[in-house]
Amino acid sequence: MLHEITTPFRSMVDPATGTVDRQIFSDEAIYQLELERIFARAWNFMCHESQIPKAGDFFLNFIGEESVIVTRDKKGDLQVLLNSCRHRGNAVCRAEEGNARSFLCTYHGWTYGLDGQLIGVPGYKDFYHEQLDKSQWGLVKAKVASYKGFVFATMDHEAPDLEEFLGPVGRLSLDLSVGRGTIKILTGVQKNVIGCNWKLANDNLFDFYHAQISHASASMNNFIERSADQHLRAQEHRNLFGEYGHGIGGPRLSEGYWAEIDASAAAGKVNPLLIEQWRRKPEVAEMLGDQVDTRGHRLVFPNLWVPSSTSQICLRLPKGPHKTEIWWFTVEIQELSDAERLAVRERAVHHFGAAGLLEQEDGENWDQSSRAMRGPIARRYPLNYAMDIGRAEVKESDLGLAYADTNTSEHSQLWTYRCWADWMDAESWAALKGDHTMPPKAGELI
Ligand code: FES
Ligand code: FE
Repeated sequence: MLHEITTPFRSMVDPATGTVDRQIFSDEAIYQLELERIFARAWNFMCHESQIPKAGDFFLNFIGEESVIVTRDKKGDLQVLLNSCRHRGNAVCRAEEGNARSFLCTYHGWTYGLDGQLIGVPGYKDFYHEQLDKSQWGLVKAKVASYKGFVFATMDHEAPDLEEFLGPVGRLSLDLSVGRGTIKILTGVQKNVIGCNWKLANDNLFDFYHAQISHASASMNNFIERSADQHLRAQEHRNLFGEYGHGIGGPRLSEGYWAEIDASAAAGKVNPLLIEQWRRKPEVAEMLGDQVDTRGHRLVFPNLWVPSSTSQICLRLPKGPHKTEIWWFTVEIQELSDAERLAVRERAVHHFGAAGLLEQEDGENWDQSSRAMRGPIARRYPLNYAMDIGRAEVKESDLGLAYADTNTSEHSQLWTYRCWADWMDAESWAALKGDHTMPPKAGELI
């Protein structure tokens, strides 16, 4: 059902009571506006540079629901091109990844270079009488930038630079994954579809409340390294709040944390080879400062999840208000031994992704949540994100980042929804920059 949206989105997320309007997870008109105001405007994660090292390499991804081709052109520059022929709109690339010299449209044969330029038109002389200005009919190009090898693109040429968009929390989210060696993303992305709204899949990455029940069997069967009780231990969580919806939330690195992990390794619950990769290298710790010592999950808004394990990254791609495609990229550090790399691959297959035990448990709940809250009756009642509300004192890290140490809480989720409302209410990048929720100040109670 499409209808005019009259409500300001900020009224749908109440930070005082911790409530969120259920309509935002199911309404078609809201979803369509998200594609416009969030995905077509934000810097979207495309791929890692290691996936397209050579000229001609390409990788297919999406901005919102729209297919884009990420290429490395002949000069070695990164390009992100809308995968839609300028003649009748056909997709010019069907393969998910590969190497090409050009992209030939299979409908009438227009051909585009790796940089998107229209380079071939059948009948250019006889049918178009050489009057078609090819320089004006190339593929639509995004603005592209790379942060430490992570490639992002935006279709809004008014967007601020990538580093400004990421801000200190978005940059930290990626910094925590670098500095361990040379990153390589393995060929082949694990992809699967879950019947849920994309925001619900995002929401879960900050959710340490669900493990005690959703992952009870995984925990009982020694599949995950920390027990449910350990996840719920008091004051062991850290939440970091960044502008535009970026955030980090989850376990705080403490001596107690490492003692538990070491005990888990001794009990055979986690491969000790992985633990060494989770420890901060001294140079990384120095760069980041002790105050941001987190093993939380990281959300680069809108839809890139950088898990704390650092051996995977994940995209939540919207496919309609009730459907999300989950993409898991496997991250390998080249300097690791064969045995360590094998440990990374095993975890990448068994924890998350289509065959991952944890994601099957999570996905079933998101699917049922999405079904059960879309009806006209259920939609009248808000969802509750009030856990710990008004009790967390904000502090400022050495690097000037706002954070709060808490019990298990829902501060990070609520933060993301507040920022989501800013994006949805703003009519342009200029409006969003001029009016968005700033991270809380030291001393505030949130
Ligand atoms: Fe591509 Fe006609 S649609 S050449
Ligand atoms: Fe889970």
